[in-house]
Amino acid sequence: MGEGIELKTEVAHSARVYDYILGGKDHFPADREAAANIVAYWPNLPASMRANRRFMARMAHHLAHDLGVRQFLDIGTGLPTAPNLHEVAQAVAPDARIVYVDNDPIVLVHARALLTSSPEGRTTYLDADFLDPDAILGSPQLDQTLDLDRPVALSLIAIVHFIPDDAEVRRIIDRLMAPLAPGSVLALSTCTADSAPAEVKAGVAAYNANGIPLVARDKPRVEAFFDGLELLDPGVVLVNHWFPDAESAAVDDAHVHMYGAIARKPA
Ligand SMILES: C[S@@+](CC[C@H](N)C(=O)[O-])C[C@H]1O[C@@H](n2cnc3c(N)ncnc32)[C@H](O)[C@@H]1O
Repeated sequence: MGEGIELKTEVAHSARVYDYILGGKDHFPADREAAANIVAYWPNLPASMRANRRFMARMAHHLAHDLGVRQFLDIGTGLPTAPNLHEVAQAVAPDARIVYVDNDPIVLVHARALLTSSPEGRTTYLDADFLDPDAILGSPQLDQTLDLDRPVALSLIAIVHFIPDDAEVRRIIDRLMAPLAPGSVLALSTCTADSAPAEVKAGVAAYNANGIPLVARDKPRVEAFFDGLELLDPGVVLVNHWFPDAESAAVDDAHVHMYGAIARKPA
């Protein structure tokens, strides 16, 4: 482990709680305890997280395969979980380039595992905060990896629900999209209670009680994050309805508590 990295293992962290619930191996007792507390109130959270992860993979494939996107800026990457975004994108386009961004020190520790690019492409990792978009845009990692004169997909998968203030999220999305070329895409998923109001309300309260701020948003609030962009089909939908594969199509809507969508920056 690198010198100076402070994991704060005594308190639960969203990335490690997520990793534990998804069946990963990078978590500590505080994370496991918080996850158990949360899942007691939110029994379908693991199913919802798995549906979100499958959405991420279908989204990355769609962007690379159908829209020809070759550059990705993925903020809130999380711990490596197969398949990772670059693996999906580079399976379609080996020359795809990905900048991964997260602010959790444990993700930083595992960043090397994320940096296994195809020889033709490139992946890089940036330890930065979504709340500081200028640090992300001004970083040498981004400068050396992405060509902002060509379209970039900004992917915000399961991160903005940790920022309760909608105006703050909008401000940051606008700032991040501003320098991206026309044809760039925003891909976003975030928590909702629309499909299971009582369960998600109790689960969100349990997250908050365990020291992790989380907010569930209804559809109009999520749609507003795409204002000024061209929402692409099928619009903002529960992630299992977004170009579903057979597994996603079989999932009960009441077990999916995430909206997802993609939208394009107009010319
Ligand atoms: C629930 S995980 C999602 C991981 C992955 N995107 C996925 O959907 O499978 C959320 C990630 O966002 C990161 N995160 C939360 N707040 C952040 C912030 N302000 N800046 C950067 N990363 C953040 C956490 O560390 C965590 O790794």
